[in-house]
Amino acid sequence: MASYGFFDDTHREYVITRPDTPLPWINYLGSEAYFGLISNTAGGYSFYRDARLRRITRYRYNNVPLDYGGRYIYLRDDDTTEFWSPTWQPTHHELESYTCRHGLGYTVIGSTCHGIKAGILYFVPLGESLEIWQLSLTNLRESPARVSAFTGVEFCLWDAQDDAANFQRNLNIGEVEVDDGVIYHKTEYRERRNHFAFFACSEPLVGFDTQRDLFLGPYRGWDRPTAVERGQSFNSIAHGWAPIGSHHLWLELEPGETRQIIFLLGYHENPDEEKFDPAGSLTINKRTVRPIIARYLRPENVESAFAALRSYWDGLLKSLHVETPDLHTDRMVNIWNAYQCMITFNMSRSASYFESGMGRGMGFRDSAQDLLGFVHMVPARARERILDLAATQLDSGGAYHQYQPLTKRGNDQVGSGFNDDPQWLVLAVAAYLKETGDETILDVSVPYDHRSGSEQPLYEHLQRSLHYTLERLGPHGLPLIGRADWNDCLNLNTFSSAPGESFQTATHRDGKVAESVLIGGLFVLAARELAAIARWRGLEADALRYVDEAARMEAVLLRHGWDGNWFLRAYDDLGQKVGSHECVEGQIFIEPQGICPLAGIGLHDGRAEKALAAVKDNLATPNGIVLLQPAYSHYYLQLGEISSYPPGYKENASVFCHTNPWIMIAEAMVGHGDQAHDYYIRINPSAREAISDVHRCEPYVYAQMIAGRDASTPGEAKNSWLTGAAAWNYAAITQWILGIRPTLTGLEIAPVMPTNWSGFKAQRVYRGVTYHISVERAGPGNSVSLMVGGRSVAGQVLPLPPAGQAEVEVRAVLR
Ligand code: GLC
Ligand code: GLC
Repeated sequence: MASYGFFDDTHREYVITRPDTPLPWINYLGSEAYFGLISNTAGGYSFYRDARLRRITRYRYNNVPLDYGGRYIYLRDDDTTEFWSPTWQPTHHELESYTCRHGLGYTVIGSTCHGIKAGILYFVPLGESLEIWQLSLTNLRESPARVSAFTGVEFCLWDAQDDAANFQRNLNIGEVEVDDGVIYHKTEYRERRNHFAFFACSEPLVGFDTQRDLFLGPYRGWDRPTAVERGQSFNSIAHGWAPIGSHHLWLELEPGETRQIIFLLGYHENPDEEKFDPAGSLTINKRTVRPIIARYLRPENVESAFAALRSYWDGLLKSLHVETPDLHTDRMVNIWNAYQCMITFNMSRSASYFESGMGRGMGFRDSAQDLLGFVHMVPARARERILDLAATQLDSGGAYHQYQPLTKRGNDQVGSGFNDDPQWLVLAVAAYLKETGDETILDVSVPYDHRSGSEQPLYEHLQRSLHYTLERLGPHGLPLIGRADWNDCLNLNTFSSAPGESFQTATHRDGKVAESVLIGGLFVLAARELAAIARWRGLEADALRYVDEAARMEAVLLRHGWDGNWFLRAYDDLGQKVGSHECVEGQIFIEPQGICPLAGIGLHDGRAEKALAAVKDNLATPNGIVLLQPAYSHYYLQLGEISSYPPGYKENASVFCHTNPWIMIAEAMVGHGDQAHDYYIRINPSAREAISDVHRCEPYVYAQMIAGRDASTPGEAKNSWLTGAAAWNYAAITQWILGIRPTLTGLEIAPVMPTNWSGFKAQRVYRGVTYHISVERAGPGNSVSLMVGGRSVAGQVLPLPPAGQAEVEVRAVLR
């Protein structure tokens, strides 16, 4: 197997050592409003807040060659006329050395070619709407070098979807200005937009280009632009067609000399009444943006912005740090899994190399679950996220499946009526309360569907979430599934036979028959969480009511949702079982075997252990636990999209990494630390680094799926980065296997770790207190005795220290 790089844990970087990774291995820039995706060869694009509506640079998905279009720099030896890109793409010129360091919020790509060493640091300063490219060039030759540097970005005409489709208009509207060495992209600024992009450089220019076809030349690509080849820009001004930004600089480097050059690519908005300067003209008013450009063209400000970014990440990651006997656990928990959780916080499912940034907005269900992975790092922003989500909830308690980040309004593009959605809101709020203890959130008055006048306390929203399910029960008393439940592709009311019809929006049945065992389990889990919250707040009557409802649903599940050796998955519209040993295919599904035990179902009567044994026997593979078996070998009209996928891919029996942690947690709940950690390691990206040729996606983040045993490429991952796998794996390892678990009343310490671990250490910042935890194994079991500050305490939940005490020493002994 080839090696493509290594983890540098000290610097919290993944270092890629050859440019031709099996797929582009990407990173994210930006943390609040301005974001970029950047691959190991400088491919990718940037956007402001909304990847579809405010796309700054253009990117062509599914392009050939792969990953073509990005943040390019060309270097040209003006004596020999030879040119190359220090990031390998787009010229593919051979490099004498190459490394790409993906760090937290930044990427550095460096290489040497013809005795010129180049390094480019890309990052977005905190609080700013711009990205910095800091280029450093060193002449390693023994003689002076005369080098031209060219940049190249292609602007997107803002709405990425329209940009990729509406050519009859868009080829006419492109507009730019070039002023004082700064390239401004201002398409549509003349009328309804008050924003523009800018591309600036710290050096005086010898030329520039803004018209793509002139810069590249007819029928040429980014690999050999005419301007670069001939060593001279055209000073072109784009009118229509395809606006780009390209600077041209001349540099003379003495032997051993190093030069730093700064490029800024940014987004800026002007107040509506001050768009133009002079007023009445169509020229951009640049008075508001010039100071920002000037600030970041100064190297000392770039240095301090970079230092600030690094300490921002130090601050986020220090909320949990562990030292266990397992390197892959440490690396993912301490660095990459936490980082990925923050990326899902920022992106939801909108923009990755598998999500085009045009389709899915913020998912209701997805965002609610992502919160499990970042609430301890950014509690205040998690609070805001919860309130945003709740404000898109419908009066019925149901939810839009998605909302647009720019407007925060729900949209129906992928349908609504996914009947599991509302329950995730309850789980998200429970996670927030357990982390922060901030019960004031429950009293915040939040509208339904953004309608003013409809405001109700958040607590009432949660109650409606539960009632939504109770008001939608099917023939067996189980929850009706609606369009689908967690499994988007189990479309039991769709019956789609028309090509191109969306499985998620078409409905050919009235939805009164098909039921979901998964939603049943999820309801029990959510109802028990809400009961605990109610009790904690002193609302005993509510608590009893939800305890009761949960028990009633549990009884129904045991009666109609148990197949003998595992939990059933569903009943379809014909009243037939899905996920039963009676089925020809799809006899056992992973989801209910995880969620039901998580809800406490089957924990005391042996059913949970039985179901988990069935998972082990039927679903576990070396690459992780597949979603179902046997895979569907053909299309079943009554089951929907799930059976549209070839066996082993996606919901049809791939290893769906999001659901594996449910099994890990269930295994931990029944006390099987070895099994839980074994499953954890099977899909841990770092543990799979050695098989990068098979896995193919980035070895530092989870992918949505790994092809299952029925696939022709088992072990091959797809859809990296934006997946609920990040949050759930983080929750499984930190809260259940390591057992450091927030509760409403304090931090619980209940590890269920592998038997051969002698212990581990952890530091956890929780409600403002830093807990220094040391866990020791004194026996093979999972029973915990706790000592706090040298004194033993009863139970597993740490008492909150007296006010003013910021550090607590905890010793936990397992027997
Ligand atoms: C995708 C969706 C998620 C869904 C899962 C299973 O990951 O983002 O919402 O639960 O697929 O269909
Ligand atoms: C989820 C599923 C995918 C499906 C999509 C529909 O992402 O993983 O298979 O097409 O939802 O929205």
